[in-house]
Amino acid sequence: MSERRLQVVTGGTSGMGLETAKVLGEFGPVLIGGRNPKRLENALNELKEAGIEAYGKPCDISNRDSLKEFVEYAISIAPIGNVVNAAGVDYGAVPREMLLKINMLGTHYVLEAFLPYLDNSNVVNYSSVTGYFYQPKKEEFELWMQPDTDDFIQKVSELIPVPTDPRMIALGPDYTAYAASKRFVMFYTMTNTMRVAQKNNSRIISIAPGSFMTPMLENQGAGNEDAAAAIKRGSAFQRFGSSGEMADLIKHLLTPGHEYLTGCDIIMDGGRTALGMYPQFK
Ligand SMILES: NC(=O)c1ccc[n+]([C@@H]2O[C@H](COP(=O)([O-])OP(=O)(O)OC[C@H]3O[C@@H](n4cnc5c(N)ncnc54)[C@H](OP(=O)(O)O)[C@@H]3O)[C@@H](O)[C@H]2O)c1
Repeated sequence: MSERRLQVVTGGTSGMGLETAKVLGEFGPVLIGGRNPKRLENALNELKEAGIEAYGKPCDISNRDSLKEFVEYAISIAPIGNVVNAAGVDYGAVPREMLLKINMLGTHYVLEAFLPYLDNSNVVNYSSVTGYFYQPKKEEFELWMQPDTDDFIQKVSELIPVPTDPRMIALGPDYTAYAASKRFVMFYTMTNTMRVAQKNNSRIISIAPGSFMTPMLENQGAGNEDAAAAIKRGSAFQRFGSSGEMADLIKHLLTPGHEYLTGCDIIMDGGRTALGMYPQFK
Protein backbone atom coordinates (compact mmCIF):
# COMPACT_ATOMS: atom_id res chain seq x y z
CA MET A 1 0.00 0.00 0.00
CA SER A 2 1.83 3.09 -1.13
CA GLU A 3 -0.92 5.65 -0.54
CA ARG A 4 -1.76 6.84 2.99
CA ARG A 5 -4.38 4.41 4.29
CA LEU A 6 -6.01 4.13 7.70
CA GLN A 7 -5.31 1.22 10.03
CA VAL A 8 -8.37 0.61 12.20
CA VAL A 9 -8.26 -1.45 15.38
CA THR A 10 -11.46 -1.94 17.37
CA GLY A 11 -10.50 -3.12 20.85
CA GLY A 12 -7.22 -1.33 20.19
CA THR A 13 -7.13 0.05 23.73
CA SER A 14 -5.79 -3.07 25.48
CA GLY A 15 -3.96 -6.37 25.14
CA MET A 16 -3.45 -7.81 21.67
CA GLY A 17 -5.45 -5.04 20.00
CA LEU A 18 -3.16 -2.35 21.40
CA GLU A 19 -0.03 -4.25 20.34
CA THR A 20 -1.57 -4.74 16.90
CA ALA A 21 -2.25 -1.00 16.67
CA LYS A 22 1.41 -0.32 17.48
CA VAL A 23 2.74 -2.46 14.63
CA LEU A 24 0.13 -1.26 12.15
CA GLY A 25 1.48 2.24 12.79
CA GLU A 26 4.25 1.20 10.39
CA PHE A 27 1.66 1.05 7.58
CA GLY A 28 -0.07 4.41 8.14
CA PRO A 29 -2.23 6.42 10.54
CA VAL A 30 -4.00 4.33 13.17
CA LEU A 31 -7.50 4.69 14.62
CA ILE A 32 -8.34 2.77 17.78
CA GLY A 33 -11.72 2.29 19.43
CA GLY A 34 -13.05 0.87 22.68
CA ARG A 35 -15.80 1.65 25.17
CA ASN A 36 -13.87 2.90 28.19
CA PRO A 37 -12.73 6.53 27.55
CA LYS A 38 -9.90 6.44 30.11
CA ARG A 39 -8.47 3.24 28.61
CA LEU A 40 -8.78 4.84 25.18
CA GLU A 41 -6.94 7.97 26.30
CA ASN A 42 -4.10 5.95 27.87
CA ALA A 43 -3.71 3.77 24.78
CA LEU A 44 -3.77 6.77 22.50
CA ASN A 45 -1.02 8.43 24.54
CA GLU A 46 1.03 5.24 24.33
CA LEU A 47 0.71 5.15 20.55
CA LYS A 48 1.55 8.83 20.16
CA GLU A 49 4.58 8.47 22.43
CA ALA A 50 5.75 5.68 20.11
CA GLY A 51 5.70 8.22 17.28
CA ILE A 52 2.55 6.87 15.61
CA GLU A 53 0.01 9.13 13.93
CA ALA A 54 -2.79 7.89 16.15
CA TYR A 55 -6.48 8.73 16.50
CA GLY A 56 -9.02 7.44 18.95
CA LYS A 57 -12.78 7.46 19.28
CA PRO A 58 -14.98 5.67 21.78
CA CYS A 59 -17.01 2.94 20.14
CA ASP A 60 -19.12 -0.01 21.15
CA ILE A 61 -19.08 -2.65 18.41
CA SER A 62 -22.36 -4.09 19.64
CA ASN A 63 -24.11 -0.79 18.91
CA ARG A 64 -24.72 0.09 15.27
CA ASP A 65 -25.15 3.84 15.90
CA SER A 66 -21.86 4.00 17.76
CA LEU A 67 -20.12 2.17 14.91
CA LYS A 68 -21.68 4.48 12.33
CA GLU A 69 -20.08 7.48 14.06
CA PHE A 70 -16.81 5.57 14.37
CA VAL A 71 -16.73 4.78 10.65
CA GLU A 72 -17.63 8.36 9.71
CA TYR A 73 -14.67 9.53 11.76
CA ALA A 74 -12.45 6.86 10.20
CA ILE A 75 -13.16 7.85 6.61
CA SER A 76 -12.58 11.51 7.48
CA ILE A 77 -8.95 10.61 8.34
CA ALA A 78 -7.89 8.54 5.30
CA PRO A 79 -9.15 5.77 2.98
CA ILE A 80 -9.54 2.45 4.79
CA GLY A 81 -6.53 0.11 4.62
CA ASN A 82 -6.69 -2.59 7.29
CA VAL A 83 -9.52 -3.21 9.75
CA VAL A 84 -8.63 -5.38 12.73
CA ASN A 85 -11.52 -6.26 15.00
CA ALA A 86 -9.82 -7.21 18.26
CA ALA A 87 -12.77 -6.16 20.42
CA GLY A 88 -14.20 -9.04 22.39
CA VAL A 89 -15.20 -10.17 25.85
CA ASP A 90 -14.49 -13.32 27.81
CA TYR A 91 -16.83 -15.78 29.53
CA GLY A 92 -17.69 -14.81 33.06
CA ALA A 93 -16.69 -11.19 32.41
CA VAL A 94 -20.14 -9.99 31.36
CA PRO A 95 -23.68 -11.46 31.31
CA ARG A 96 -24.20 -14.20 28.68
CA GLU A 97 -26.45 -12.10 26.40
CA MET A 98 -23.89 -9.29 26.34
CA LEU A 99 -21.07 -11.73 25.59
CA LEU A 100 -22.98 -13.12 22.62
CA LYS A 101 -23.99 -9.65 21.47
CA ILE A 102 -20.44 -8.25 21.51
CA ASN A 103 -18.61 -11.29 20.13
CA MET A 104 -21.19 -12.28 17.52
CA LEU A 105 -23.27 -9.28 16.51
CA GLY A 106 -20.28 -6.99 17.09
CA THR A 107 -18.29 -8.92 14.49
CA HIS A 108 -21.20 -8.64 12.05
CA TYR A 109 -21.75 -4.93 12.71
CA VAL A 110 -18.06 -4.07 12.27
CA LEU A 111 -17.92 -5.74 8.87
CA GLU A 112 -21.25 -4.22 7.75
CA ALA A 113 -20.11 -0.76 8.81
CA PHE A 114 -16.75 -0.90 7.01
CA LEU A 115 -17.74 -3.00 3.97
CA PRO A 116 -18.76 -0.05 1.76
CA TYR A 117 -15.31 1.50 2.26
CA LEU A 118 -13.15 -1.58 1.64
CA ASP A 119 -11.00 -1.21 -1.46
CA ASN A 120 -8.20 -3.74 -1.77
CA SER A 121 -8.29 -3.70 2.04
CA ASN A 122 -7.89 -6.38 4.71
CA VAL A 123 -10.18 -7.38 7.56
CA VAL A 124 -8.92 -9.42 10.50
CA ASN A 125 -11.22 -10.80 13.20
CA TYR A 126 -10.04 -12.31 16.47
CA SER A 127 -11.65 -15.72 17.00
CA SER A 128 -10.25 -18.17 19.58
CA VAL A 129 -9.04 -21.76 19.65
CA THR A 130 -11.98 -22.31 22.02
CA GLY A 131 -14.17 -22.11 18.94
CA TYR A 132 -12.72 -25.40 17.66
CA PHE A 133 -14.22 -27.18 20.64
CA TYR A 134 -17.77 -26.12 19.71
CA GLN A 135 -19.67 -28.11 17.08
CA PRO A 136 -22.67 -26.11 15.83
CA LYS A 137 -25.82 -27.91 14.71
CA LYS A 138 -27.38 -27.43 11.27
CA GLU A 139 -30.07 -25.10 12.74
CA GLU A 140 -27.32 -22.96 14.27
CA PHE A 141 -25.51 -22.57 10.96
CA GLU A 142 -28.85 -21.59 9.35
CA LEU A 143 -29.53 -19.01 12.05
CA TRP A 144 -25.97 -17.68 11.93
CA MET A 145 -26.51 -16.89 8.23
CA GLN A 146 -29.27 -14.44 9.33
CA PRO A 147 -27.67 -12.26 12.03
CA ASP A 148 -30.25 -9.51 11.47
CA THR A 149 -33.09 -11.84 12.51
CA ASP A 150 -35.26 -10.42 15.32
CA ASP A 151 -34.16 -11.74 18.71
CA PHE A 152 -31.05 -13.25 17.09
CA ILE A 153 -29.11 -13.42 20.36
CA GLN A 154 -31.98 -15.03 22.26
CA LYS A 155 -32.40 -17.64 19.51
CA VAL A 156 -28.66 -18.28 19.38
CA SER A 157 -28.58 -18.67 23.15
CA GLU A 158 -31.46 -21.16 23.16
CA LEU A 159 -29.62 -23.40 20.66
CA ILE A 160 -26.40 -23.58 22.71
CA PRO A 161 -26.47 -26.93 24.53
CA VAL A 162 -26.05 -27.23 28.28
CA PRO A 163 -22.60 -28.79 28.68
CA THR A 164 -22.30 -32.37 29.93
CA ASP A 165 -18.50 -32.69 29.74
CA PRO A 166 -17.17 -32.16 33.30
CA ARG A 167 -14.27 -30.06 31.95
CA MET A 168 -16.72 -27.67 30.26
CA ILE A 169 -18.92 -27.55 33.37
CA ALA A 170 -15.91 -26.74 35.52
CA LEU A 171 -15.15 -23.71 33.35
CA GLY A 172 -18.47 -22.09 34.27
CA PRO A 173 -21.93 -21.67 32.80
CA ASP A 174 -20.97 -19.34 29.96
CA TYR A 175 -17.86 -21.09 28.67
CA THR A 176 -19.91 -22.93 26.03
CA ALA A 177 -21.53 -19.66 24.96
CA TYR A 178 -18.06 -18.10 24.57
CA ALA A 179 -16.92 -21.09 22.49
CA ALA A 180 -20.03 -20.76 20.31
CA SER A 181 -19.45 -17.03 19.87
CA LYS A 182 -15.88 -17.61 18.71
CA ARG A 183 -16.92 -20.42 16.37
CA PHE A 184 -19.34 -17.88 14.91
CA VAL A 185 -16.45 -15.44 14.33
CA MET A 186 -14.69 -18.09 12.17
CA PHE A 187 -17.94 -18.95 10.38
CA TYR A 188 -18.82 -15.32 9.74
CA THR A 189 -15.33 -14.61 8.44
CA MET A 190 -15.48 -17.53 6.01
CA THR A 191 -19.05 -16.84 4.84
CA ASN A 192 -18.09 -13.29 3.90
CA THR A 193 -15.06 -14.24 1.81
CA MET A 194 -16.71 -13.56 -1.55
CA ARG A 195 -18.49 -10.38 -0.50
CA VAL A 196 -15.22 -8.94 0.76
CA ALA A 197 -13.23 -10.11 -2.29
CA GLN A 198 -15.67 -8.19 -4.49
CA LYS A 199 -14.34 -4.98 -2.91
CA ASN A 200 -11.36 -4.82 -5.26
CA ASN A 201 -9.76 -8.05 -4.00
CA SER A 202 -10.10 -7.25 -0.32
CA ARG A 203 -9.31 -10.09 2.08
CA ILE A 204 -10.85 -11.32 5.32
CA ILE A 205 -9.29 -13.72 7.80
CA SER A 206 -9.64 -14.60 11.45
CA ILE A 207 -6.91 -15.38 13.94
CA ALA A 208 -7.48 -17.90 16.72
CA PRO A 209 -5.27 -17.12 19.71
CA GLY A 210 -4.53 -19.77 22.31
CA SER A 211 -3.57 -18.30 25.70
CA PHE A 212 -2.01 -14.86 25.57
CA MET A 213 -1.22 -12.96 28.75
CA THR A 214 -3.39 -9.88 28.40
CA PRO A 215 -5.73 -8.05 30.79
CA MET A 216 -8.50 -10.40 29.57
CA LEU A 217 -6.63 -13.49 30.72
CA GLU A 218 -5.44 -11.83 33.92
CA ASN A 219 -9.07 -11.06 34.79
CA GLN A 220 -9.86 -14.71 34.15
CA GLY A 221 -7.49 -15.58 36.99
CA ALA A 222 -4.45 -16.46 34.89
CA GLY A 223 -2.44 -14.05 37.04
CA ASN A 224 -2.82 -16.69 39.77
CA GLU A 225 0.19 -19.03 39.89
CA ASP A 226 -1.69 -22.36 39.84
CA ALA A 227 -4.05 -21.28 37.09
CA ALA A 228 -1.13 -19.93 35.05
CA ALA A 229 0.81 -23.20 35.45
CA ALA A 230 -2.21 -25.23 34.28
CA ILE A 231 -2.63 -23.04 31.20
CA LYS A 232 1.07 -23.24 30.37
CA ARG A 233 0.95 -27.04 30.49
CA GLY A 234 -1.54 -26.94 27.61
CA SER A 235 1.05 -25.44 25.27
CA ALA A 236 3.85 -27.36 23.59
CA PHE A 237 6.21 -24.62 24.81
CA GLN A 238 4.84 -24.49 28.39
CA ARG A 239 4.25 -20.76 28.21
CA PHE A 240 1.77 -18.06 27.30
CA GLY A 241 1.91 -16.26 24.00
CA SER A 242 2.74 -12.57 24.09
CA SER A 243 0.71 -9.78 22.54
CA GLY A 244 3.84 -8.75 20.61
CA GLU A 245 4.04 -12.19 18.95
CA MET A 246 0.41 -11.92 17.90
CA ALA A 247 0.82 -8.39 16.57
CA ASP A 248 3.87 -9.50 14.61
CA LEU A 249 1.93 -12.34 12.96
CA ILE A 250 -0.82 -9.94 11.94
CA LYS A 251 1.69 -7.46 10.54
CA HIS A 252 3.24 -10.21 8.40
CA LEU A 253 -0.15 -11.38 7.13
CA LEU A 254 -1.06 -7.84 6.13
CA THR A 255 2.25 -7.13 4.45
CA PRO A 256 2.07 -7.31 0.62
CA GLY A 257 2.86 -10.80 -0.63
CA HIS A 258 -0.07 -12.69 0.92
CA GLU A 259 -2.74 -11.66 -1.57
CA TYR A 260 -4.02 -15.25 -1.98
CA LEU A 261 -4.72 -15.62 1.75
CA THR A 262 -8.38 -15.08 2.55
CA GLY A 263 -11.47 -16.77 3.99
CA CYS A 264 -9.69 -18.81 6.64
CA ASP A 265 -8.92 -19.03 10.33
CA ILE A 266 -5.28 -19.05 11.39
CA ILE A 267 -4.38 -20.67 14.68
CA MET A 268 -1.59 -19.26 16.85
CA ASP A 269 -1.72 -21.18 20.09
CA GLY A 270 1.67 -22.70 20.88
CA GLY A 271 0.28 -26.09 19.85
CA ARG A 272 -2.70 -26.04 22.26
CA THR A 273 -5.28 -27.22 19.70
CA ALA A 274 -3.02 -29.97 18.36
CA LEU A 275 -2.31 -31.25 21.88
CA GLY A 276 -5.98 -31.11 22.81
CA MET A 277 -7.31 -32.83 19.69
CA TYR A 278 -4.65 -35.33 18.63
CA PRO A 279 -2.50 -37.98 20.30
CA GLN A 280 1.18 -37.06 20.07
CA PHE A 281 3.93 -39.25 18.61
CA LYS A 282 6.54 -39.98 21.26
N1 LIG B 1 -6.02 -13.32 25.64
C1 LIG B 1 -6.25 -14.51 25.14
O1 LIG B 1 -5.62 -15.48 25.55
C2 LIG B 1 -7.29 -14.71 24.06
C3 LIG B 1 -7.53 -16.04 23.64
C4 LIG B 1 -8.43 -16.26 22.62
C5 LIG B 1 -9.10 -15.18 22.02
N2 LIG B 1 -8.87 -13.91 22.46
C6 LIG B 1 -9.57 -12.83 21.78
O2 LIG B 1 -8.65 -11.85 21.34
C7 LIG B 1 -9.27 -10.55 21.35
C8 LIG B 1 -8.38 -9.59 22.14
O3 LIG B 1 -8.30 -10.09 23.47
P1 LIG B 1 -7.32 -9.52 24.60
O4 LIG B 1 -6.91 -10.69 25.39
O5 LIG B 1 -6.34 -8.62 24.00
O6 LIG B 1 -8.40 -8.73 25.49
P2 LIG B 1 -8.38 -7.37 26.32
O7 LIG B 1 -7.01 -7.01 26.76
O8 LIG B 1 -9.45 -7.53 27.34
O9 LIG B 1 -8.87 -6.31 25.24
C9 LIG B 1 -10.16 -6.35 24.72
C10 LIG B 1 -10.41 -5.05 24.01
O10 LIG B 1 -11.74 -5.08 23.45
C11 LIG B 1 -12.41 -3.88 23.82
N3 LIG B 1 -13.84 -4.14 23.82
C12 LIG B 1 -14.52 -5.07 24.51
N4 LIG B 1 -15.83 -4.99 24.23
C13 LIG B 1 -15.97 -4.00 23.32
C14 LIG B 1 -17.07 -3.44 22.64
N5 LIG B 1 -18.32 -3.86 22.84
N6 LIG B 1 -16.83 -2.45 21.75
C15 LIG B 1 -15.58 -1.99 21.54
N7 LIG B 1 -14.51 -2.46 22.16
C16 LIG B 1 -14.70 -3.46 23.05
C17 LIG B 1 -11.82 -3.53 25.19
O11 LIG B 1 -12.01 -2.17 25.55
P3 LIG B 1 -13.28 -1.68 26.42
O12 LIG B 1 -13.53 -2.73 27.46
O13 LIG B 1 -12.87 -0.35 26.97
O14 LIG B 1 -14.40 -1.58 25.45
C18 LIG B 1 -10.36 -3.83 24.92
O15 LIG B 1 -9.76 -2.77 24.21
C19 LIG B 1 -10.67 -10.75 21.95
O16 LIG B 1 -11.60 -10.88 20.90
C20 LIG B 1 -10.54 -12.08 22.67
O17 LIG B 1 -11.78 -12.75 22.78
C21 LIG B 1 -7.98 -13.66 23.49
